[in-house]
Amino acid sequence: MLTFFRLTSICFSPFARVLAADGVQSAYTAPGSFPTSVYKSYWNDPTATSAQPQPVISDPATNTVFPAYLTDPASFPKNDTVDPHLLPFPLEPSQLLQQALSQIKSIISNPVLSKDTCAQCQASLAVAKMLVLAAPEQGALLAQALCVYFNYSTSCYDEYSNLAVGSVLTQVIALGDMGGYDGQLICHRVNLCPVPPTVPLNMTGWFATPKPNPLPAPKQPSGKRLKVLHISDIHIDPRYATGYEANCTAYLCCRENVWNAYSPNQVVLPAPRYGSFQCDTPISLMLAAMQAIPALTGTDGTGFNFSIFTGDLTAHDPDNQYSRAFVEQAQVVVYDLLKKYVGPAPVYATLGNHDTYVQHQMIPYYTGGPLGQQFNWLYDHVSALWYQEGWLPQASVEFARTHYAAYSVKRADGLRIISLDTNMWYQLNYFSYVNATEPDPFGILRFLTDELQAAEDAGERAWVIGHVNSGWDGTQSQMNPTNFFYQIVDRYSPHVIANIFYGHTHEDEFSIFYADNATIMSAETAQTVSWMAPSLTPLTNLNSGFRMYEIDSATFDVLDAYTWISRVDEYPLLDNQTEVGPTYFLEYNTREAYGRNILWDASAPLNATWWHLVTEDMEKNTSLLQTFNKYQSKSSVQAAACTTTQCLAAKICYMRSGSASIAYQNCEQGYGSTQ
Ligand SMILES: *[C@@H]1O[C@H](CO)[C@@H](O)[C@H](O)[C@H]1NC(C)=O
Ligand SMILES: *[C@@H]1O[C@H](CO)[C@@H](O)[C@H](O)[C@H]1NC(C)=O
Ligand SMILES: *[C@@H]1O[C@H](CO)[C@@H](O)[C@H](O)[C@H]1NC(C)=O
Ligand SMILES: *[C@@H]1O[C@H](CO)[C@@H](O)[C@H](O)[C@H]1NC(C)=O
Ligand SMILES: *[C@@H]1O[C@H](CO)[C@@H](O)[C@H](O)[C@H]1NC(C)=O
Ligand SMILES: *[C@@H]1O[C@H](CO)[C@@H](O)[C@H](O)[C@H]1NC(C)=O
Ligand SMILES: *[C@@H]1O[C@H](CO)[C@@H](O)[C@H](O)[C@H]1NC(C)=O
Ligand SMILES: *[C@@H]1O[C@H](CO)[C@@H](O)[C@H](O)[C@H]1NC(C)=O
Ligand SMILES: *[C@@H]1O[C@H](CO)[C@@H](O)[C@H](O)[C@H]1NC(C)=O
Ligand SMILES: *[C@@H]1O[C@H](CO)[C@@H](O)[C@H](O)[C@H]1NC(C)=O
Repeated sequence: MLTFFRLTSICFSPFARVLAADGVQSAYTAPGSFPTSVYKSYWNDPTATSAQPQPVISDPATNTVFPAYLTDPASFPKNDTVDPHLLPFPLEPSQLLQQALSQIKSIISNPVLSKDTCAQCQASLAVAKMLVLAAPEQGALLAQALCVYFNYSTSCYDEYSNLAVGSVLTQVIALGDMGGYDGQLICHRVNLCPVPPTVPLNMTGWFATPKPNPLPAPKQPSGKRLKVLHISDIHIDPRYATGYEANCTAYLCCRENVWNAYSPNQVVLPAPRYGSFQCDTPISLMLAAMQAIPALTGTDGTGFNFSIFTGDLTAHDPDNQYSRAFVEQAQVVVYDLLKKYVGPAPVYATLGNHDTYVQHQMIPYYTGGPLGQQFNWLYDHVSALWYQEGWLPQASVEFARTHYAAYSVKRADGLRIISLDTNMWYQLNYFSYVNATEPDPFGILRFLTDELQAAEDAGERAWVIGHVNSGWDGTQSQMNPTNFFYQIVDRYSPHVIANIFYGHTHEDEFSIFYADNATIMSAETAQTVSWMAPSLTPLTNLNSGFRMYEIDSATFDVLDAYTWISRVDEYPLLDNQTEVGPTYFLEYNTREAYGRNILWDASAPLNATWWHLVTEDMEKNTSLLQTFNKYQSKSSVQAAACTTTQCLAAKICYMRSGSASIAYQNCEQGYGSTQ
């Protein structure tokens, strides 16, 4: 103690010499012992030098003594849980909906975000995600309320309620990464975000073997021709109401419950018995076509060697008038008619976006639980029918049943047909926005690759059939899976993949696939072609049509293609009589229509090389491109012309786009359809 004192005085001695004013000291040394008299009592010994004194404090306001632990350095609660920490009351689900709605409105009207529609959209989706995770049954109500608020549609209930895509959107928003890529892709879909970049692919290890170099020698043609029917987008409408409004304001026309807004009480255009431009296929037209096909194609009494049906057999009803039974009935009716009129050989069918319920939807199995299985009823039903029609062997049926109705079948003549469920990349399949950076969330591209590898190993040729095209103008399919598909097609073309066939757009189109992701597009790099068949349905503003290919029985290359059509503008004249029904007639022979200036042996196939040369000729000869534009609509009187340089250039660009990524990268948008 003393030593300490001395030390401090020495230490402070320089200051001691400073002169102090009167009565003011320049330094003070406090006593070493605690002034214990300040407090009445202590929790510990206040004179100890090893710990701080802990006075006992009482609260005069409450007449209580504060507990010792408030001043105890050795033991106090590290998580003090005594006091309340207030939270707002949890809300009822309907109140959560109101809050989500008002937050989204705030986001939209916040001036800080006013120039960034993409940020607004993704922030709103993030709000919606939290709502649907907490109160899933509110999801459809939010979708409907936003539809009304933003004036998206005049029929928000029909489109967004729980009976329509409301429950689907709810699942998608709950499952997807709304703040990230998935959300950006959704917002791009509604034109609020820029298109997100195609995700770079890592193909390492994807293929069992590298592409053979040199390629195996091409198969020798047999010189024998097989007849193959390609029919698509039948869209049979069992509720077609003859005489009702065919010029309606909101789809689907030629129904008892629709009208023209300008003339709600008086039918403007009575639905003809055989169909109309804004209506689907009445059963009368379906049967007329079924009778015409054997007669026109020279298959009466024999049937085709085989047929392909690239999907869409139901009518374009609003979702709230749709049901599983509606889809299943159409499947039975259409398959049975095909069997009867174009059989007995197999019809290889694929699922269209309308051949499911809710329309367009397909969810990856990995989702698990009841959600992952929600479309199994469809795969069970359709695969059972394909078996009963005798179109697929048991092994392909079993595969289809458990793989989204996709299948592979090896025909006795050696051709392998691989059918994909292209809803996996369809832009209106909202589940394709979940996990959208994954290149193959459905596992179907893995299946396709394995089948093509098996075909290569066995020296077979293959046809790939699907419904929604992978390219053309890029408006129908997602970029990431079609970019991946394009690389798989490159790996196995032209030696394995002879042709690809799609439907869906209702229009007569084609797209060429090139080597090396289309870096160079030439006759030398063209590898395979996708044929998009015209629809049987007149919807929208089109004639009705179908096509036959003549193929070589050994190479399975297309040697000739014939497209027949029927003029829908003449159908009103056929009403009120039973003398004659619709006429189908040959619209064009593909080789003749497009190949006149191409030096091509009469026995050489209409393959990708030929199609590329056709596009080169179209570049030189605008009227040849006009011919394409005419045939694209099946020569409909309702089709729009394509005469501007932008339109003409865009069409050729689409013909050279096998993936949505390539279409987006290379082509001007907006000229995909003749409508
Ligand atoms: C305080 O609570 C947190 C959360 O339960 C816990 O992780 C932490 O271990 C607690 N601290 C102590 C010291 O108990
Ligand atoms: C929707 O339309 C109504 C009436 O036409 C209009 O008052 C309202 O501002 C529109 N809402 C939005 C978000 O544009
Ligand atoms: C690509 O995939 C392979 C095999 O899965 C992996 O080893 C490699 O790291 C991946 N490369 C990149 C750049 O991600
Ligand atoms: C269809 O109705 C619209 C008015 O909604 C009218 O302008 C048009 O001429 C009608 N077309 C036909 C073919 O009746
Ligand atoms: C193709 O079908 C026709 C008509 O049924 C038949 O005569 C011909 O043998 C078939 N060709 C093959 C290779 O099966
Ligand atoms: C994304 O897809 C893969 C399968 O391709 C799956 O394993 C993974 O769980 C999915 N992730 C999410 C977040 O859904
Ligand atoms: C298309 O057929 C021609 C003539 O047989 C052939 O030279 C060419 O290599 C074929 N092209 C493709 C992509 O198979
Ligand atoms: C056909 O008959 C219906 C009544 O059955 C009549 O309303 C309609 O005008 C007739 N159409 C023609 C083209 O004669
Ligand atoms: C251009 O195409 C049209 C339509 O197919 C054809 O009639 C015409 O002969 C072609 N012109 C030339 C110079 O090839
Ligand atoms: C193919 O080209 C498209 C368009 O440029 C691009 O987005 C895509 O990433 C490319 N794919 C590969 C595998 O390089």
